[in-house]
Amino acid sequence: MCGIVGYIGKNKNAQQILLDGLHRLEYRGYDSAGLCVISGKKCKTFRAVGKVSALEAKIGEKDLAAKIGIAHTRWATHGKPSVVNAHPHNCGKIHLVHNGIIENYAQLKEALIAKGHIFSSETDSEVVAHLIDEANGSSRSFEESVQDALAQIRGAYALVVMHEDEPEKLIAVRNSSPLVIGVGRDEFIVASDASAIITHTDRVLYLDDGEMIVLTADDHRITNFQGKLRNKKEHVLDWNESEAQKEGYAHFMLKEIFEQPHAVEDAMRGRVIIKEGLARLGGLSAVEKKIRSINRIVIVSCGTSYHAGLVGEYMLEEYAGIPTEVEYASEFRYRKPLIDKRTAVIAISQSGETADTRAAIREAKNKGALTLGIINAVGSTIARETDAGVYNHAGPEISVASTKAFTSQLTILTLFTVYMGRQRDMSMTMGRRILTELRALPHKIEEIFTQEKHIKKIAKKYSSVQSMFYLGRKYNYPIALEGAIKIKEISYIHAEGYASGEMKHGPIALIDKNFPSIVIAPCDSVYEKTLSAIAEIRARSGKVVVITTSDATEAIKIADDVIIVPKTLEMLMPLLTVVPLQILAYYAGVTRGYDVDKPRNLAKSVTVE
Ligand code: F6R
Repeated sequence: MCGIVGYIGKNKNAQQILLDGLHRLEYRGYDSAGLCVISGKKCKTFRAVGKVSALEAKIGEKDLAAKIGIAHTRWATHGKPSVVNAHPHNCGKIHLVHNGIIENYAQLKEALIAKGHIFSSETDSEVVAHLIDEANGSSRSFEESVQDALAQIRGAYALVVMHEDEPEKLIAVRNSSPLVIGVGRDEFIVASDASAIITHTDRVLYLDDGEMIVLTADDHRITNFQGKLRNKKEHVLDWNESEAQKEGYAHFMLKEIFEQPHAVEDAMRGRVIIKEGLARLGGLSAVEKKIRSINRIVIVSCGTSYHAGLVGEYMLEEYAGIPTEVEYASEFRYRKPLIDKRTAVIAISQSGETADTRAAIREAKNKGALTLGIINAVGSTIARETDAGVYNHAGPEISVASTKAFTSQLTILTLFTVYMGRQRDMSMTMGRRILTELRALPHKIEEIFTQEKHIKKIAKKYSSVQSMFYLGRKYNYPIALEGAIKIKEISYIHAEGYASGEMKHGPIALIDKNFPSIVIAPCDSVYEKTLSAIAEIRARSGKVVVITTSDATEAIKIADDVIIVPKTLEMLMPLLTVVPLQILAYYAGVTRGYDVDKPRNLAKSVTVE
């Protein structure tokens, strides 16, 4: 949801650093982009509809010769994608970029218009520039003017603000939208996430909600919105730069699909004690006693992370014997969830910034639950706001469609199931069995990659259909949902994920020769039931692609196309069956000519509710 960058330094060219930062944050929004620098005592602003490359084309060869600037890549909320709605916005000498939503902007705008302010955009963000200008005009200092504006706005925001007359100063604030401050030598880079910072420095400061930082090239001061000083410790990022590059792959999505053996390996590194059948989760040690006393788990998450949660529910109930529910985070806080001190509420989130998930965790905290996180982005908001948690260590996931984060989440959920199960009734033998199989998965995922060409052919064959079903049962039902979301977002083919047993209760009416189904049917405890669903589809002339194991003779025989995955424990099968579905979605999108890393209307990190 919008990416923002700010830079202030003594020696380097701000223009280049800002544009580079925008490229790295482009996955957060890409309907328009803009940049503003102060050069001498003059502001130079450029804005363009489309991707960052359109902005670069507008700037052309010009060297803007600046040491301070702000930049933005937009995912539209208020006002359509257009040059006037693109950031940075300004009022007089105040220039700013914003990520988030100003909820009370309409009332504020009306009051400002009554005072004679003239607006040039439809955005909520422009209101903030006018509020700061209004305060500044009544002889408040730059900092005080920002504080005055903050006292009036409601909502979620990360802002970076410049004043044309104070080119030695950059102000950034944060409230419910992510913001990281990179600390370099005689320079600071402010950005929505660390990917825009890591090429310059690995030293960072995380602002908390309600905090403001005033930066000069060689100093900084953090306060709350009322000006009270706050002390902050620096952190060191554990990402390396190459992880944020494509490294020869055509798209980040493909690279990240192929990184999954590593992602799974890294998620379990140091956490598996085979001999004792135990999972060691250091991030939970501070709350271990509390975890022993919980009698219910509620998982809150969105999208792909929600699908991981569904697999987790099946694992935890079957192997750890703990009642578990999974809820869309966006629903959780608006109903009356029954939660108490013996409930653990687990947030699953790649970004750790998803607004709905964050709100759900806050609600759970208010109700006295123990809150835990399964989070990929180290130092992200949800990671910091939960009582304890387990990091994925999957490295940065840049492609908007989540792939390696998903298999890594499933790995952590497996470890968590063993961790919980072994505290309860799970035998050492069962713990060992699960962990031994888990350890074998990276290699098995690599085996699936040998079928890349075959899967690509199938993707091409079906890439012109209008609609399709994704079907699975038990552990593979969430994978059907995941397969469907993946193909929808990457190739814009309409797809529905269903529990295969549900087909006969309605959806089967849609089946004909033009409506194919992808059926996940490994030879497991529900194989025969899934076979019946395949037969019902075939009997109605529907085409079937099966994702199955080599021993599933009947499924292989009746399907139109077959993708074989290696065998593993039933509970771990989702870590394998999802991989061909990711590759299928990728090649369907590529065949249809879409930019798979940046699907239309989407953004990587959904920081608005
Ligand atoms: C789909 C996808 C989204 C995210 C969802 C949650 O490919 O990426 O559905 O899974 O927006 O995001 P996180 O995990 O960052 O909370």
